[in-house]
Amino acid sequence: MVEIAPSILNANLLQLGLEIEKIQQADWLHFDVMDGHFVPNLTFGPMFVAAMQHATRLPIEAHLMVDNPDFLIPLYAEAGSKRIIIHQENSVHLHRLVQRIKEYGCEAGVALNPATPLSTLECILPDLNLVLLMTVNPGFGGQKLLPGVVTKIKELRQIVNKQQIQCKIEVDGGVNWENATGLVKAGADVIVAGTLIYKDPDPGKAVIRLKTMLNEGGNSTDF
Ligand code: DX5
Ligand code: ZN
Repeated sequence: MVEIAPSILNANLLQLGLEIEKIQQADWLHFDVMDGHFVPNLTFGPMFVAAMQHATRLPIEAHLMVDNPDFLIPLYAEAGSKRIIIHQENSVHLHRLVQRIKEYGCEAGVALNPATPLSTLECILPDLNLVLLMTVNPGFGGQKLLPGVVTKIKELRQIVNKQQIQCKIEVDGGVNWENATGLVKAGADVIVAGTLIYKDPDPGKAVIRLKTMLNEGGNSTDF
């Protein structure tokens, strides 16, 4: 089953609780944490995750686009995140951080920016629950998908299948009605969608439509 993880970055933040209630048919809630250093934007603290526990039963995945993940992992874990995704690019001791995420009982994911090669994860792939392949440069919603990353999705799918490891492949950034099916055909298991969902007049229906389309092999761009 392809899973849908709406990103709340482009939701109406003045009524975040209502916005989250609209997408209860999703599988995960994608929560973009930005510190204004690792990426040129600043977003939500762990208290938002703690507050959202009351607005949804959806599991929350915290995408930490931050310079100091070591310090923030416990805060987002204790706030209720079920999955924590850190970036390879700023995790010198990546194995230790992945272990730390698991020590807090969370699923461990590692994100790669568009220019970061898959080879950087070679030694740690079997330890990961998920790899997040950024299809935009991180920092903002509403950007255009970088088609060159699709090759990475296909390559990672081949590696995961060949090694027979239980690591999910998630895609994040610029997903739209035209490219979504092609991303799944390339090998994505989990789709993050922000603008696609929250700029729709009915985000709840958009989630159901996307989920149906991706799990029934809808037609769209073949990359
Ligand atoms: C970008 C974030 C993405 C973004 C997705 O740095 O990691 O999750 O919010 O938004 P869309 O789907 O609008 O590109
Ligand atoms: Zn994200």
